Amino acid sequence: MKTVQDYIRTIVDFPHEGIMFRDVTTLFADPRGFRMAIDQMLHPYAGIDIDKVVGLEARGFILGGAIAHQLSVGFVPIRKKGKLPGTTISQEYTLEYGEAIVEIHDDAIQAGEKILVVDDLLATGGTAEAGIKLIERLGGEILSCAFIIDLPELGGRAKLEAMGMDVHALCAFDGL
Ligand code: PRP
Ligand code: MG
Repeated sequence: MKTVQDYIRTIVDFPHEGIMFRDVTTLFADPRGFRMAIDQMLHPYAGIDIDKVVGLEARGFILGGAIAHQLSVGFVPIRKKGKLPGTTISQEYTLEYGEAIVEIHDDAIQAGEKILVVDDLLATGGTAEAGIKLIERLGGEILSCAFIIDLPELGGRAKLEAMGMDVHALCAFDGL
């Protein structure tokens, strides 16, 4: 039987030379693959009380929406700067080249709410770390962070675990 990892396509030299891009659109497009991924991401949280799912733009929206629906809880997006219409708080983070900013609506999470953070891929952990900081600034309690793919050599898991986070990923790829 195919595993989640088998449905992920690798595109060589995208977005630039030397990068092996792990493309989850082939996983999302397959009815068995997508269901398997959502079911497996949910598996660690059976019987655990979660108040909200927070998805990181952009592929975290696709996964987070499906997971929130399955859990019958609300979904909250963390978006790139300038996309959210209401009052937001912002967090800067470091990218491969330069800096970026992500935002969350300041009324999207109530203090003490138990949060599951969702994204497709954990690389350096910079994106997830920025999201975690936003949630914690609103008083949210992060129960866990769930990803499809971990790239362990880039250190994201180690970084999040050093912050005290519980981290789950469905598969890992060697190298960048
Ligand atoms: C990718 C991926 C994660 C992030 C992981 O998103 O979807 O969100 O990078 O990298 P990191 O652990 O080093 O922060 P990207 O920034 O390419 O944006 P997108 O999801 O909006 O396409
Ligand atoms: Mg992303």
